[in-house]
Amino acid sequence: MRILVVGSGGREHALVWALSGSPLCDEIHCAPGNAGIAAEEGVTCVAVGAEDIEGLVAYAREQAIDFVVVGPEAPLVAGLVDRLAEAGIKAFGPSAAAAALEGSKAFMKDLCARHGIPTAAYGRFTDAETAKAYVRECGAPIVVKADGLAAGKGVTVCESVEQALEAIDQAMRDEAFGAAGSVLVIEEFMAGEEVSLFALVDGEIALPLAAAQDHKRVGEGDRGPNTGGMGAYSPTPAFDADLLERVMAEIVRPTVAAMAAEGRPYKGVLFAGLMLTAEGPKLLEYNVRFGDPECQVLMMRLKSDLLPALLACADGVLESFDLRWYAEAAMVVVMAAEGYPGAYEKGSEIRGLEAAAALPDVKVFHAGTKRGESGACLANGGRVLGVAALGADVGAARDLAYRAVDLIDWSQGFCRRDIGWRALDAS
Ligand code: AMP
Ligand code: GLY
Repeated sequence: MRILVVGSGGREHALVWALSGSPLCDEIHCAPGNAGIAAEEGVTCVAVGAEDIEGLVAYAREQAIDFVVVGPEAPLVAGLVDRLAEAGIKAFGPSAAAAALEGSKAFMKDLCARHGIPTAAYGRFTDAETAKAYVRECGAPIVVKADGLAAGKGVTVCESVEQALEAIDQAMRDEAFGAAGSVLVIEEFMAGEEVSLFALVDGEIALPLAAAQDHKRVGEGDRGPNTGGMGAYSPTPAFDADLLERVMAEIVRPTVAAMAAEGRPYKGVLFAGLMLTAEGPKLLEYNVRFGDPECQVLMMRLKSDLLPALLACADGVLESFDLRWYAEAAMVVVMAAEGYPGAYEKGSEIRGLEAAAALPDVKVFHAGTKRGESGACLANGGRVLGVAALGADVGAARDLAYRAVDLIDWSQGFCRRDIGWRALDAS
């Protein structure tokens, strides 16, 4: 098969790497990819942006692509999979109607309300004065969310009523999130531990993947501003078999059934962000894609061929499908450019990648990199590398991942030194 992977991050590098191991795969193309993806054997990167829907459809046609695997949410929400289907090209990922689970928080909350799926109490608003009245009535803490995609920045957890009023003004009066903030969801603050669950979905059936946990904050001890994720590990002690069954029964399967019943069958990977509250697990958010960097540890642990599993989602034949995982644990440590998630510089040189990659059971995934004219590997983003390792347990995976990190010579980069601390403290 001729495969096209859409995206340019560490998640897409991990997907390309896993797919390239499939005996069903003849050729992989990646749009637009990065320096690490381009260096994989048999992979062609093409300079078509992940949000250039028409460009992607034209490229897939030209290259006689059999199957497109979409990494990020924006092209899904914009209807890439629908446009590919019209062109007769099969793809992994939800239609625009189904991607609304991530593309519109108001849609997601209303769906949960209609179908009794546990999530925070909320109101939805198109007008600032009504939103403010709701905040004054509820009190703080309270959470203000832009309805649409806002590159991970649309959520404000507010400690006070004043802060929430300010967040409403930022979204509605100042249009800080553009059109994404013209509708707001304001919801109850939920206290508890945050965990994630990933499931492959074929329109009707949901197959949970191995449990993976990321670290969202930039600083050690999970402090400081939110990021896309500074590291991840799998498995995680926070997710045992009882909790998994409860989340599948109370949240994931009812959502898949609700989407099918409402004429928006969900196909692809469903990523549930959950809060473990005193009243049980509740849904924080859905994403319609793999997590990044969670995908990297899932691909390290996946023993089964990824390609037939993704095809089964697209074809609606996930029933009786079984995925095998290595018993070992995986960890990925993200190396980011100094300044991230704030302003950072691009173009610094990264050395030592070969030495790190030469360690057994280590894989260095690239996120924001590009090749310089001399052939050097240059930083080209906020999150730049994901150094992943497999070990007998989370502690061993961590030791190996940091051994590899320490072989990488990049003075403008930094990483957290405590990835996995919750799992390691619990053991
Ligand atoms: P979201 O993009 O909806 O996951 O929100 C980003 C982050 O805000 C989450 O990962 C949580 O840490 C936090 N958050 C969102 N909604 C709530 C809530 N209702 N209660 C507490 N924290 C929340
Ligand atoms: N690591 C969290 C995310 O991909 O949204």
